[in-house]
Amino acid sequence: MKRKPIIAGNWKMYKTIPEALALVNGLMINLKDVMDRDIVVCPPFTAIKPVSDALKGSNILIGAQDVFWEEKGAFTGEVSPNMLVDAGSSYVIIGHSERRQYFAETDETVNKKIKGSLKVGLMPIVCVGETLKEREQNIAYQIVERQTKNALLGLSKQDLLKIIIAYEPVWAIGTGKTATPQQAEDMHRYIRGILKDLFGQDISESIRIIYGGSIKPENISELMKQPDIDGGLVGGASLDIDSFTKIVCFI
Ligand code: PGA
Repeated sequence: MKRKPIIAGNWKMYKTIPEALALVNGLMINLKDVMDRDIVVCPPFTAIKPVSDALKGSNILIGAQDVFWEEKGAFTGEVSPNMLVDAGSSYVIIGHSERRQYFAETDETVNKKIKGSLKVGLMPIVCVGETLKEREQNIAYQIVERQTKNALLGLSKQDLLKIIIAYEPVWAIGTGKTATPQQAEDMHRYIRGILKDLFGQDISESIRIIYGGSIKPENISELMKQPDIDGGLVGGASLDIDSFTKIVCFI
């Protein structure tokens, strides 16, 4: 089964509205002919709507960086799945390690956010990954297995087809230390094995598993050559027109 590559830019807490527009205006020009891979940008909440208006009719889609699971209600400060769709998002990053680390995100809240998003047709990009300490303690595989299984608890095969998994080793995020292509491939293959056990071979072969952690124009091609790496979730290097263009256009 041939899986369509996807490159998503996680802008984190960067870019005011004018800065966001300058970035997507550049990307739209550079990437307008790219059709054989999905391209997604994930601006902060405040820039989603203006970026969505600017990208109308283009081949670049929008994701949010987080979501709350309820449809509406007295939840001060939160944003619902439906509101994200309304503002122009079609994807949402869920369970990023920064949210797990700084904002008390747990496997349980990740699972609720995935379910809430699927209800309105938002495609979750579900992040899993071990810390440096966990890798050194030789429990990286156990941690990723737990995160993956708990995230997907109660989901159907049909749900799975609308999900992307992002393996992001925490020690490689924003550190300049990329996992080697082999380290990443080994974990991706392991995750695909978990999916096969849970949902069967067909589903596991259809799901896109993308890598994240210090992706740069210099290392994307080697990563993408691995059979189980289907794309990238790019942080720092997605904030610059030139470097994100080069990453999207990996050979
Ligand atoms: P990075 O971030 O590319 O800056 O390492 C990746 C991420 O956090 O998604």
